[in-house]
Amino acid sequence: MGEKRPTDKSFLSDLFWTAFNFLRMYIIGLGWLWQQLVDPHRKLKDLPKRTGETAIVTGGARGIGVEVVKQLLQADMRVIIGCRDVAIGNRVIKEILASGIKTGTAECIQLDLESLQSVRMFAKAFLKLGTSLSVLVNNAAYFGPHRMTIDGFEAQLQINYLGHFLLTVLLIPALIRAGKVGKCSRVVNVTSMVSKLGNIEFDDFLMKKYYNRNVAYCNTKLMQVISSNYLNNRFLAEKLPIECYSVHPGVVRTNLFIHFQLYRILMLMLRIVGWPPSKGSDSIVYTAFSEELEGHGGKMVSNCTFVTPNPQADDALIQLRLWEMSCNLTKLEGSKQASTIVPDPFILVDIE
Ligand SMILES: NC(=O)c1ccc[n+]([C@@H]2O[C@H](COP(=O)([O-])OP(=O)(O)OC[C@H]3O[C@@H](n4cnc5c(N)ncnc54)[C@H](OP(=O)(O)O)[C@@H]3O)[C@@H](O)[C@H]2O)c1
Repeated sequence: MGEKRPTDKSFLSDLFWTAFNFLRMYIIGLGWLWQQLVDPHRKLKDLPKRTGETAIVTGGARGIGVEVVKQLLQADMRVIIGCRDVAIGNRVIKEILASGIKTGTAECIQLDLESLQSVRMFAKAFLKLGTSLSVLVNNAAYFGPHRMTIDGFEAQLQINYLGHFLLTVLLIPALIRAGKVGKCSRVVNVTSMVSKLGNIEFDDFLMKKYYNRNVAYCNTKLMQVISSNYLNNRFLAEKLPIECYSVHPGVVRTNLFIHFQLYRILMLMLRIVGWPPSKGSDSIVYTAFSEELEGHGGKMVSNCTFVTPNPQADDALIQLRLWEMSCNLTKLEGSKQASTIVPDPFILVDIE
């Protein structure tokens, strides 16, 4: 409670569902935290050398994202950080260099996922560099109270899902250029185990009738997994050298939970039993690089092993509905005609 948000439920029913969703998410979250405690932490044994290759990390200037950037630099990549505040991003790059990481190169391009125009400008700026894209890490996220974006969407829906959806589709040409048979380029969607609690409500996709921040987070994290699987299937069917994966980074001490109702208690717990961001980055980096994953696109990874996703993730009808809905909402729908210009139906776009 305590947040202004749409709901068509009565006060008591709203109170019940708020409490139910809160408890469900955090009791189950505790279960995963326990799992994390008893399972040994896994990571790639050796970082490969990816000299001459390029990666993008959204939200790479804070939290788990910075640690991903560090490891990609250690693999000698050119890393583009998509961040809201380029001055902060540049400061972070300086700090990384000062920490002794001298391989690879890093730069920032402004990206605010709350604005689809910003996503388009980011993609345009990247494509203008003329470089291919080996790894796209869709990492940025928002988990907090109800607010609307400039495009009129609820913020979690747009930042966690729609913005990344649009970004991925716009960058397909660069991903195609980097991939080859036996070494596909990779889209790594950083999702969460709570996607297992999600449910796609197509009748209230924009959350105009009912909104609960925990439900919205679970649902948008599930959308990432469904979309990842849909795109991976399409890439496979179109014989395009790109694979998409979903990754749960672990339960990690970051500011993601700053708006959580019991933030201080949670942080105390995470300080004792949660992973630091450096460990949180390990499964993401494993998914970006691991050779043993090749040919397993569409899988969900946690602690460097496959996990079973929410069953909706593999439902072809749900995948298709989500794809169509997302194309419409991000205004990619008319661009199917572009398939007459290039044989690849994914190269849909008129970036403006
Ligand atoms: N921490 C966990 O326990 C946990 C568990 C499961 C999954 N995850 C997932 O791991 C990923 C990283 O989370 P984290 O824990 O590192 O969170 P975090 O510390 O809160 O970092 C979130 C990142 O997202 C960026 N971001 C937020 N809104 C944005 C926007 N409108 N446009 C562009 N970037 C935006 C932030 O950039 P600014 O610096 O500009 O705010 C920041 O870099 C997320 O996808 C999250 O869902 C985390």
